[in-house]
Amino acid sequence: MSTQTSEYKRITTKTVLAMKQKGEKLAMLTAYDFITARLLDDAGIEIILVGDSVANVVQGLETTIPVTLDEMIYHTKVVRRAVKRAMLLADMPFMSYQVDVKEAVRNCGRMLKESGAEAVKMEGGSRMIPLIEQLVDIGIPVMGHLGLTPQSIYKFGTYEVRAKESAEAKQLVNDAIALDKAGVFGIVLEKIPDTLAAKVTKSVSCSTIGIGAGAFCDGQVLVTNDMLGMNEQFRPRFVRKYANLSEEMRTAFQSYIADVKLAKFPSKKESY
Ligand code: KIV
Repeated sequence: MSTQTSEYKRITTKTVLAMKQKGEKLAMLTAYDFITARLLDDAGIEIILVGDSVANVVQGLETTIPVTLDEMIYHTKVVRRAVKRAMLLADMPFMSYQVDVKEAVRNCGRMLKESGAEAVKMEGGSRMIPLIEQLVDIGIPVMGHLGLTPQSIYKFGTYEVRAKESAEAKQLVNDAIALDKAGVFGIVLEKIPDTLAAKVTKSVSCSTIGIGAGAFCDGQVLVTNDMLGMNEQFRPRFVRKYANLSEEMRTAFQSYIADVKLAKFPSKKESY
């Protein structure tokens, strides 16, 4: 199995499919701003997701429910300016695609036309099939999202692991197969048992991208702010912290404040 992805000049749906066929793991992270997106793209990430998690990590909201389509388009547009190689994937926010197929198609079209996203992601199982078929037919690539779907948090009542019981697990496998047949190029599997994620991965031709779904998915996704250790309040076990930025930022802010107060900043060299 190769860990090299540099052979791919630009990541497209075709690349994602080829990577699954070759057994190459795919890495996806979120971005909501220009600088982060540029760093991710330079680092060689395959997919940059402008997630509706912008609600939690940027807007300070408890759920993703309030995010608007205009806000998602705004953040995706900002990220677009930085991304040269990665695929740019945008989340469709709650109620931008659930009312009816016609309105949903129009909103997904707006997302692509106005933000520069190359694909959209939406939560939900078999009931999404008519919409997904139309979008794929029109030429709008779709990634599905099953398991813990945060836009349904009021239905679930908790952010705990989904599909531990056999009925829900069976439904999830059926939903994944239906999404795959409808033409999605990938499915995010969020917070489900790893054995179930492995079963889904074997049952579909599209890529499975896990978050809290174990090691057997075709790829992995995390919220960038979480894996950088920026959010001290959010510590689920599926988030590996690759940095401790909250501590580094706090120390930097305190040093700056102290330097200003003691007239140690700016120095002569930092002045004109
Ligand atoms: O909104 C988001 O960031 C997501 C990921 C957690 C997959 O949907």
